[in-house]
Amino acid sequence: MTSLLIVHINQIATPTGKSQQHGAQMNEISLVQDGAIYVVDDLIVNVGKTPEVLADLRKENITDFDEVIDATGQAVVPGFVDSHTHFLFAGYRVEEFYERVSGSSYMEIMENGGGIQATVDATRGAGFEELKKLGWQRLNEMVVQGVTTVEGKSGYGLDKETEIRQLRVLQELAISQPLDLAITYLGAHAVPLEFKNDSEGYLNYMIDEILPQIKAEKLAEFVDVFCDEGVFDYQQSQKLLEAAKKLGFKVKMHADEIANLNGAELAANIEATSADHLIKISSAEIKRLSEKQKTVATLLPCTAFCLQENFAPARELIDNNCAVALASDYNPGSSFTCSIPLIIALASFKMKMTMGEVLTALTLNGAAALDIADKKGSIEVGKVADIVFLKYPDYRYLMYNTGSNVVNRVIKSGKVVFENLG
Ligand code: NIG
Ligand code: FE
Repeated sequence: MTSLLIVHINQIATPTGKSQQHGAQMNEISLVQDGAIYVVDDLIVNVGKTPEVLADLRKENITDFDEVIDATGQAVVPGFVDSHTHFLFAGYRVEEFYERVSGSSYMEIMENGGGIQATVDATRGAGFEELKKLGWQRLNEMVVQGVTTVEGKSGYGLDKETEIRQLRVLQELAISQPLDLAITYLGAHAVPLEFKNDSEGYLNYMIDEILPQIKAEKLAEFVDVFCDEGVFDYQQSQKLLEAAKKLGFKVKMHADEIANLNGAELAANIEATSADHLIKISSAEIKRLSEKQKTVATLLPCTAFCLQENFAPARELIDNNCAVALASDYNPGSSFTCSIPLIIALASFKMKMTMGEVLTALTLNGAAALDIADKKGSIEVGKVADIVFLKYPDYRYLMYNTGSNVVNRVIKSGKVVFENLG
């Protein structure tokens, strides 16, 4: 058993609950001044005001701790959950990025053999170790920003061999580095050249050949689909996700990103764990998500920003009582960034979310988007001790110190995994 006691925290700021927070609940942040957190192994055992937590410990004759941290002058928040990323890929697309900045659209680039297909070519050519090294480096980039749980998708192989390799690398990273990983099969990211003009054939190949193997080897927990114009339509997405659900996978969707194909409605109907992007979501779909209350609306502001698109209607979603999460969509095309400070800045200034809503969206609702809100996403007794220290006394500095990383210590499952106290 190892124990950790954190005392005199200037402010503990956290959403509370074991499931996603909807609408106005998202702004309800619990604030404790002069707080303390007592952690045993990987779990939070006591949280409260420092004098009260110390009194409880004395009553139980607990006087020795493996580590004590004095957090005077600092705020702490729960570890951030980046619930939508494509961080495992080989190759970069800097040329395409500049083409887009000077006016080509994401879909034009894709039609001309750039886009996802370019990353597929590079990833097919990369070996297991090379991918693992790239993945490791990118996870290191995330942890210093306070990310403690990351979702990672396949989808840059498309053929069985490379998709399985991507998933195996993700599995290996999950056990060999400190962050928690949620793993998603996204074979339905694009129609590969081998199935050009035969998306139905590719769909059947995924359903008959790939999904059963992934299930048998327990390589992924979620199945995702890019439901959009020129990729997979409503019916095809429905067919894939229903087959996935039948095999016992949880499902997610890239929905209403470039065009509105009613993807969010499908996500609500099929009770997807999350519906992601939602730049083009309709008001009718927002109502549907709100009625069902199951599916987390995951917004990816860095993608909208980099594609120079409008931002997803965060206010309309929250004001209609939906549960909103925020994530990076880290990928080599539409959002080559995993910057939490950029997400926070865009969500607050461009999407008009409050700092409380942003915090909930990046922690508890992010955890709900991965179906782990009962264990993670808040600083409460019984939850995993994923705790982020800020170099400032109040969590609102996350927004106020615009675009800057204010994280100076990260605790993952009760252990310090990053510290920069200089
Ligand atoms: O979420 N929309 C589809 N997939 C990614 C982009 C992937 C890429 O361009 O490589 C996204 O934006
Ligand atoms: Fe994505």
